Amino acid sequence: MTSKNMLDKLNQQMYEELNSFYIYASMASDFEARGYLGFAGWMKKQAEEEMSHAWKIYGYINSRGGKAVFQAIPQPKADYASVVETFKASLAHEQHITACIDKLVFLARDEKDLATEQFLGWFVSEQVEEEASVQEVLDKLKVLDGSPSTLYLLDKELGARA
Ligand code: FEO
Repeated sequence: MTSKNMLDKLNQQMYEELNSFYIYASMASDFEARGYLGFAGWMKKQAEEEMSHAWKIYGYINSRGGKAVFQAIPQPKADYASVVETFKASLAHEQHITACIDKLVFLARDEKDLATEQFLGWFVSEQVEEEASVQEVLDKLKVLDGSPSTLYLLDKELGARA
């Protein structure tokens, strides 16, 4: 049995995932407008993953006797000063999402809701991957000197993900 409180918190997490989709889609668009098609493709892939996370939670809520309810999503930031700033914002956002997931796991434990705890286990592992993949890009950006030619090469490399 999953409590009403837990279902409400899962609905809140579904919102967080959809908000992540919005943020990353906006980052992709900003990259595209600046001619960084590879970074844009990488970010679009990221946004698609967020949408799939939202659907996963949607499915779980509905399978546990709840109802997925959609909240309004605020307008995301449209312009970033640099490639580094965008990826730094992405990492900070992922760290926020990790904290949200951790809170949900602790709540599931408090409520002795093993099914939800197990469901959330997938998200715990996913967050490790998500933070690592953004950190990897930031590490590369740090190693590179930020010149247009190296950014061009990294843009090409990341474009391969898409
Ligand atoms: Fe679904 Fe990137 O957190």
